[in-house]
Parts: sequence; structure tokens; C-alpha cells
Amino acid sequence: MNDRPSLQQVEEVRASAARELDAAPDIQSLDEWRIAYLGRGGRLTRILRELGGLPPDERRAVGSAANSAKSALEEDLEVRRRELHRAQASANLLAERIDVTLPGRPTPHGRLHPITETIREITEVFVSMGFGVEEGPEVELDRYNFDMLNIPKEHPARDMWDTLWIDHVDEDGSRPMLLRTHTSPMQARIMETTEPPVRVVVPGKAFRYEATDATHEWHFHQVEGLAVDEGITFSDLKGALFEFARRIFGEERRVRFRCDFFPFVEPGVDMAIDCFKCGGSGCRICGGAGWIEILGAGMVHPSVLEGVGYDSQKYTGFAFGMGVERICMLRRGIDDIRLFYSNDLRFLRQF
Ligand code: PHE
Repeated sequence: MNDRPSLQQVEEVRASAARELDAAPDIQSLDEWRIAYLGRGGRLTRILRELGGLPPDERRAVGSAANSAKSALEEDLEVRRRELHRAQASANLLAERIDVTLPGRPTPHGRLHPITETIREITEVFVSMGFGVEEGPEVELDRYNFDMLNIPKEHPARDMWDTLWIDHVDEDGSRPMLLRTHTSPMQARIMETTEPPVRVVVPGKAFRYEATDATHEWHFHQVEGLAVDEGITFSDLKGALFEFARRIFGEERRVRFRCDFFPFVEPGVDMAIDCFKCGGSGCRICGGAGWIEILGAGMVHPSVLEGVGYDSQKYTGFAFGMGVERICMLRRGIDDIRLFYSNDLRFLRQF
């Protein structure tokens, strides 16, 4: 008769249930607790089941105590469950907390290389005058770099361009490949595949077998220009290049054309601008001359036109070529061409 249900037993079960509930560390442990006390074989359930063996008076008293203990424990369970939920939620929040007052990590901002920027500015000027933009191969054929430009094999005019030849020998023993020494081969390539009118500028790399110094690099950039149509004259050349000079070097610029020799133009000229620093009186930038040479140009040679299948009686045109590094150096006051390609960010960040 020792474990016969009694008020005391109900009280003990209830007290121990309350203690354990308080001590439950997490939501998962609540299940074990519920099974231990309120489950089918739970301690309180067992008391209720065994009430039938009690005399009626006791049964009523113990039964009512056990029933209210049961509903009290069920209520306590819900309270504790909510408590643990809240604790879990705020623990989660704490773990995921971020400090929104921390300063962000700076993202380094890239920028254009001054040469890329200069190429874009130059091409934009010509695009605004109706020129298109094309690019061509850096590894070129002898044929386009020289022959088609009226510079035959073995002709001394080839000495004007110190050439880096590619180590490739054709079946006939010739070495026809080179790194283009200028962007002019694109004149021939473009005319060969299009009919006039032609109006195009060609930015790109050029290579020369040369010792480097403050004004020479073995590789550099040029912008080539070509316009061919019926009735194009030297005045068109002057007009286009004068406009270019003013847009790039300032509205008040004056230009000077002097005779020069390039095998693929006739007549050939070099174009100079009056010094934008001293205005022509002579300074360090212009080397005391008052004039700065910025490009070579001329009327496309009739043999070049004929070579690409154009009728030189019908069509005329002008061509020009300029060194991009030189133009950038003049505008930015840079005194050593090698700085562009030394990968020194202290230099590049200035622009
Ligand atoms: N290709 C010449 C050079 O590199 C420049 C040039 C281009 C001259 C077009 C006349 C016409 O020296």
C-alpha cells in the first residue's frame, strides 16, 4: 500500500516536476519532461490511473488534487516553452549581431591608363568629324607594313623603321612576318576590303627595334587616319588636322606644315603646333623652337591607291599618323616615356 496514490504523493510529484521544469536547459528537453510526468506512463498519469483503488473520500480529494496538478503542470509547460523560445531567439540575435557603425572596407577604384585615355580623346575628336574607328593586327606581314605602302624589299626607305622580325621562315626562304612598325599597314588593309568613301582612324600598338631613352620606347601607340574619296584635297587634310590640334591642344593653337618624306604619301608633311606653353617664344617644352612636331601626314600616294585596286585618277585621299605617348607627354608635362610602362602606381595615380 506504500505507493498508493496520496495527496502527499501528488504534492511531491508536482514539486519535483516544477523543479525539473525550471532546470530544463532547452526546448528539446521539454519533451522528455512531458513524457516523464504527463505522458502515458508519466508519474502524474500513473497516479490518476490508480485512483480507482482508493476509498471514495480519498479518491475524490486525491483525484481533484491530481487533476489540478495536471492542468497546472500543462500550463507551466507552456510558460516555460515560451520562456525558452524567447531566450533562444535573443541568443540567435546576439550571435548574428553586426556592428553597423563599423566603417566599410574601401573598394579600390580603378582608372584608365593615361595612354588609353589619350587614345579615346583623340578618336573622339575624329569620330565627331565622321571618322569610324578600326583596329588591326600587331603581328603583320611584310607586305602590308612595307610593300603595299610603296616601300619595296631591299629599298633603303625601310631603314626609316627599325624592324623586329618574327622568327618564322616561309617555304621560299623568306621571313614575311614582323611586329608592325607603324599603324599604316591598316591603310592598305582597309582600302583592300572597302570601296571609297573611306574615313577611318586606327589606334593601336607599334614596335621598333630601338634602344629606349626618355623619348623612345621599343613599343608605343599610334593613331592612324585615312580619308579617301572623290575630290579630297590637301585643304581637307589641313582642315581636319587643324581642328584636331585645336580640340586636343587648345582653341588658340596655330599649326605649321613642313615638307617631309614618307614613301606612301605625296606630298608628305610633318605638322607642328605652336608651343602651348610659351606661345611660340621658346621654352623647355618646345626646346626653344616655339613649335612642337606632333604628326606625319600627306596625300595618299597614287601607287598605294593603285596597289589596293583604286583608280588614282578618280580617287584621292589623305593619311596621317601620330604617336600617342608623345601627345600625352606634351599635354600632361611628362618628361620620360618609360614611365608609362614601368607599372609604378605612384606615377599612374597622378592622372
Ligand atoms: N607611319 C608613319 C610613321 O610611323 C607616319 C605617317 C602616317 C606619315 C601616315 C604619313 C602618313 O612614321
